[in-house]
Amino acid sequence: MPQSAGQSSLYERLGGVYSIATVVDDFVDRVMADPRLNANPRVDEAHHKVPPPGFKYLVTEMVCWAAGGPQKYTGRSMADSHRELGITPGEWDAFMDDFQKTLDKFRVPGAEQAELKAIVQSTYGDIVAGAK
Ligand code: HEM
Repeated sequence: MPQSAGQSSLYERLGGVYSIATVVDDFVDRVMADPRLNANPRVDEAHHKVPPPGFKYLVTEMVCWAAGGPQKYTGRSMADSHRELGITPGEWDAFMDDFQKTLDKFRVPGAEQAELKAIVQSTYGDIVAGAK
């Protein structure tokens, strides 16, 4: 993410990899257990065929990278990993609702919440079926 002069990166303001990994741990558990998302059989199957720690690792890498940390994302592209899942706008809303619950649980400040939500929102076209 671009960073304006004299301002610390989102990665630093969030507290670096330990804080980000803690938030991702809670969020992935929440999403994987969400009946609104598992009602989609393709999501249910794909979520439960991969071990959660590897999934959390990849999401942590991606969030750290997107927030301006030193990590590089090594997973598949968002379009490639979500294309076959047929994710609907309603499922997207459930996912964002889970995200809000996690952000509030860890008391992430409003400015950082807004930046994180903008990063996630930027992937909408690659995640939701037919959105592009
Ligand atoms: C309704 C929203 C979403 C649902 C239901 C969902 C579900 C899934 C599922 C089931 C997989 C496993 C695919 C497979 O291995 O075949 C996956 C992969 C992944 N998702 Fe999502 N996802 C959603 C949105 C997002 C968003 C917004 C992000 C990040 C901004 C994200 C990040 C990832 C990552 C990093 C992977 C791993 C890619 C890889 O295997 O290399 N997902 N997602």
